[in-house]
Amino acid sequence: MHLPDYKEARTRDKRDYKRIEYSENSDVKDKYLGKTFYLKTYGCQMNEHDSENIEALLTFLGFSKVDNYTDADLVLLNTCSIRENAHNKAFGMLGRLKHLKQEKKDLIVGLCGCMAQEASVVDEIMKDYKWVNFVFGTHNMYQLPEIIDKALEENKQQIEVFSREGDLIEGLPVLRVNDYKAYVNIIYGCDKFCTYCIVPYTRGRERSRLKEDVLEEVKALVRDGYKEVTLLGQNVNAYGKDIYDNYTMANLLEDVAKTGIPRIRFTTSHPWDFTDSMIEVIAKYPNIMPSVHLPVQSGSSRVLKLMGRRYTRESYLELFHKIKDTVPNVTISTDIIVGFPGESEEDFKETLSLVEECKYDNAFTFIFSKREGTPACKLADPTPESEKEKRLQRLNEIVNHYFLENNKKLVGSSLEVLVEGISEKKNMYYGYSDTNKLINFSSDKDIKAGDLVKVKITSAKTWSLDGEVVR
Ligand code: 5AD
Ligand code: SF4
Repeated sequence: MHLPDYKEARTRDKRDYKRIEYSENSDVKDKYLGKTFYLKTYGCQMNEHDSENIEALLTFLGFSKVDNYTDADLVLLNTCSIRENAHNKAFGMLGRLKHLKQEKKDLIVGLCGCMAQEASVVDEIMKDYKWVNFVFGTHNMYQLPEIIDKALEENKQQIEVFSREGDLIEGLPVLRVNDYKAYVNIIYGCDKFCTYCIVPYTRGRERSRLKEDVLEEVKALVRDGYKEVTLLGQNVNAYGKDIYDNYTMANLLEDVAKTGIPRIRFTTSHPWDFTDSMIEVIAKYPNIMPSVHLPVQSGSSRVLKLMGRRYTRESYLELFHKIKDTVPNVTISTDIIVGFPGESEEDFKETLSLVEECKYDNAFTFIFSKREGTPACKLADPTPESEKEKRLQRLNEIVNHYFLENNKKLVGSSLEVLVEGISEKKNMYYGYSDTNKLINFSSDKDIKAGDLVKVKITSAKTWSLDGEVVR
């Protein structure tokens, strides 16, 4: 048994990690043929991509996928700890599974992902959720076949969570959700330790994959006909810093662009590591999409300092405008937290005025959520929750206003869209533009998911645009 421990998870040292090629355990291949699984994924794209590996590992064991948890022999929750809300959703699901297990005694239930890295969650599972069969963490996902096999063979709760990041595992099997767009991990973990954020504890220190491994993966995707890759990391801009003296995110972006893949996206960028050379590379290569996610979190330098964000309002705005001025037609989206401990009305107004200046194309807005073990959890927080909710509402009104304003300007123009499929509600197609706008559109041409088409925009909404394929 390995239990999570934040003290250990926080440790950052020069310890080398090894690159290890994953090898299949043939003893368990197809051992559970005929059994079914249901995998529920919470959280970010990193988790979504982990779930693509998890599905492949479960398939290797012989399990086949079902779409309804009530039909499954095994239910696995790939969890997120970023805010309390995500946390509560997973525990809510465990409640439903407890009922199901009363009727279906053989049901196997497991929990993995970021919540598995939290000592308090694992304590609770060991104490009050003894019926949960197994838990494994983000650093030992590759052990899934052995952990599940052991849980089934021994009929005893298995808790296997490595607190410290282990080696870098290459060659894990993957079952991708799409055959035209793909996630590619480039860096794991985060060393920034923003004071509100749990990720550096749940995902470990920054570890870059070798550039050769990333480029090989992208080239294989190009050979398989993929149209889009999203380079993933908690902080992609730190790519290479831990392993190379002279090879950065800008170099990697350039090399990925040279593979000829039609569309490249990357997420998430910390403003601290966003270099001029990155901006130049984004502007230079038409297959690097002109769409940047640049979380600001707050418009107040005082709050940014309390958050440990390493930039000020002024330096963020300087970077923002540099990107806008250098990359043609670029759209910039952001994340904003309201109600950080001690945020005053004045601080909040600075966030509003920053939004007025940046006129973001998209923004994810959150109320601060206390995460046990983070420094912000201990700060005095006198603002009542009702006031925080009002602030969120005021902020949302302004961000929504600019989404619509920006979208209206696109009416009449033609955008390149990667077709994703038929949108259920309106019997129209949908897809995303190069600038990452959601477009619903009609087509009298025969088109399919994965095609790149030109769409003329006919009308604008707050969160999407309508259009028609140009003949
Ligand atoms: N409370 C609220 N929002 C948070 N985020 C991260 N941690 C917290 C927290 N404790 C938000 C940040 C981040 C996004 C992924 O989630 O805005 O950029
Ligand atoms: Fe949530 Fe962060 Fe974990 Fe992603 S990495 S699942 S956002 S806690």
